Amino acid sequence: MSDVLKTEKNRRQWSHVDSSDVQEFSEAKIDTVLSFQRTHDRYAETPLRSLDALAGELGVSKVYVKDESYRFGLNAFKVMGGIYAIANCLAEKLKLPIEDLSFEMLKDKKVKEQLGDLTFISATDGNHGRGIAWVAHELGLKSVIRMPKGSSLKRLEAIQAEGADVEISDVNYDETVRICDQMARENGYLMIQDTSWPGYEKIPLWIMQGYAAIAMEILDQLPEPPTHILLQAGVGSYAGGIAGYFLHKYPEAPPKIILVEPNQADCYFKSFENEDGAMQSVGGEMATIMAGLACGEPNQAAYEFLCKYAYGAISCSDEVTALGMRIYGNPMKGDAQVISGESGAVTMGALYLLCSEAALVSSKKELAIDRSSRVLLISTEGDTDAESYRNIVWKGEYPNLLGKLRDELNV
Ligand SMILES: Cc1ncc(COP(=O)(O)O)c(C=O)c1O
Repeated sequence: MSDVLKTEKNRRQWSHVDSSDVQEFSEAKIDTVLSFQRTHDRYAETPLRSLDALAGELGVSKVYVKDESYRFGLNAFKVMGGIYAIANCLAEKLKLPIEDLSFEMLKDKKVKEQLGDLTFISATDGNHGRGIAWVAHELGLKSVIRMPKGSSLKRLEAIQAEGADVEISDVNYDETVRICDQMARENGYLMIQDTSWPGYEKIPLWIMQGYAAIAMEILDQLPEPPTHILLQAGVGSYAGGIAGYFLHKYPEAPPKIILVEPNQADCYFKSFENEDGAMQSVGGEMATIMAGLACGEPNQAAYEFLCKYAYGAISCSDEVTALGMRIYGNPMKGDAQVISGESGAVTMGALYLLCSEAALVSSKKELAIDRSSRVLLISTEGDTDAESYRNIVWKGEYPNLLGKLRDELNV
């Protein structure tokens, strides 16, 4: 198989969706989430595009793209989780049901007096931390953000602009999470992390429910449900949240969930390769331009769920996302343009290759993509590092994809 793009079907295929697995993603629960998110005065549904010319070119029925670069002016989807998790933490402290709260109410002076001096802390590659810092700033509260080694300075500056105390650590994402956990304990900070581990489950679940509200928006915008959803996976919280809602909504015939990861941090792909499905972690530097996906240790709750219900996984080199960024940025005539960053575009690059490269026909078949497929992609971020975006899309960094792919496959 090629190192550019590898596919793996999940061996653990389920026979029915167990309602207890999806109860946290019921319509009623996610409606509560979206209703709260809508109370923010900058809330607006992000656009859903149908790239019909591209679908024709790729030989599928539909290619739908949800463009999360329009989310709250923050250029990425992540704040959907952070805003709901923080609101729930505050609701608990105020002893009020979240259903009775609005974002405006949380900004109230009296509420602030009641809450006292609160500081949130989180580890991030950029997007989650920016969301947390933004929400904290809007509420007049403090945030401490730590980023893994090698993080983009542009993304650090965007977090700094939200008033956060932000630094880049000298370890990877997973280690940075542990540092933040330690700092939270030592300083009485409130940790708002987008991944779970035994004993830290409630806040990550709220974050996943926050992401599931995007799926609710999508189903309001789509004329018919998709047959396939390609979802980027870092720790898997986002994929778990989106998949959770779709599986709850269509338990009899849910869309096929396909996870897409960078090959330097492909913990889900590696777990699917395992006969027994044992969770695989990836360590070390995880050098990839897909910064948001450079996580080697899955969210345990999301892992258990996705390991059971995902249809397959794809592991991709950086060239695949560079290709996806260029396709989105230079659409076929009649299709909408999507500005998609390194962690946002990999699903597009993967779909394009699966549908256009003869050498990948068996992979496409394995994932059951054919003429009748309605494929949903979510561009989860825009040009969150504008300089890097231009280097790739305008100046052509990461170019030699097809040569590399064909060399590796000997075609
Ligand atoms: C743009 C983008 N897409 C996808 C993801 C993946 O989300 P998760 O880590 O929940 O799998 C991230 C995570 O930071 C991200 O920033």
